[in-house]
Amino acid sequence: MTTLAQHSAASGAGRPARAAAAQKLNKTYGSGDTRVHALKDVDVSFDAGTFTAIMGPSGSGKSTLMHCLAGLDSADNGRIWIGDTEITGLKDAELTRLRRDSVGFVFQSFNLVPTLTAEQNITLPVALANGTVDRDWLGYVTETLGLTGRLKHRPHELSGGQQQRVAVARALLTRPDVIFGDEPTGNLDSKSGAEVLSLLRRSTRELGQSIIMVTHDPVAASYSDRVVLMNDGALVGELDSPTPDSVLAALSTLGA
Ligand SMILES: Nc1ncnc2c1ncn2[C@@H]1O[C@H](COP(=O)(O)OP(=O)(O)OP(=O)(O)O)[C@@H](O)[C@H]1O
Ligand SMILES: [Mg+2]
Repeated sequence: MTTLAQHSAASGAGRPARAAAAQKLNKTYGSGDTRVHALKDVDVSFDAGTFTAIMGPSGSGKSTLMHCLAGLDSADNGRIWIGDTEITGLKDAELTRLRRDSVGFVFQSFNLVPTLTAEQNITLPVALANGTVDRDWLGYVTETLGLTGRLKHRPHELSGGQQQRVAVARALLTRPDVIFGDEPTGNLDSKSGAEVLSLLRRSTRELGQSIIMVTHDPVAASYSDRVVLMNDGALVGELDSPTPDSVLAALSTLGA
């Protein structure tokens, strides 16, 4: 079987040193009595080739931060970079191109196209960009994710965990500079979750892939290099080389 390292020659070259960053980021939702200050002066930077987990209580702003970083939502003020490119102020077409070329997403709700097979879903971003699918890499990713026998199935014929793995394969296939995941293992049993997390971790080590993942699970977070802690819209701390115990201890101080 091919190893991940054998695929690394084709990736990682020319990548920026920073995966993404935000400076003085503020975002509010609503107005008057229902106004919510979802991000408060957030300053954060993610090194390329690292795996970061964003954690914090429900409603602390994790998804909002990730959506703003990924250019899916706009902030009220502050600056955002994907790689070396500042996205604040980019025209829609430029932002769309940057997202297509440099960013992968794994949503909790999968966002698969119901009428396409698993394989067609995985290769869709490449097809949309008129690119050529790297069949070796597709084979490696789908085999590692345990999807080989499921590629001709449509999403409704797959379990939740299999659909999530299709979404992970789709994000990995284009080897984007940065992959964002909002609870990407939230729907997986612990064995599938561990497989997905180890593949994500190895893709940072061996391919220089950058990963930013929101999770509530201290075990999932322990696969990362660094945990960034949020509370009430603000960054309130971080942990390097996290373990499930150190993550739990840090979260308990936030009342999560
Ligand atoms: N579209 C919206 N309209 C109004 N308020 C919103 C909207 N999206 C999020 N919020 C509010 O902004 C705050 C941050 O929400 P966010 O979804 O970023 O939290 P989170 O940390 O991802 O929570 P969870 O762990 O539950 O997913 C919350 O108070 C939430 O109610
Ligand atoms: Mg969320």
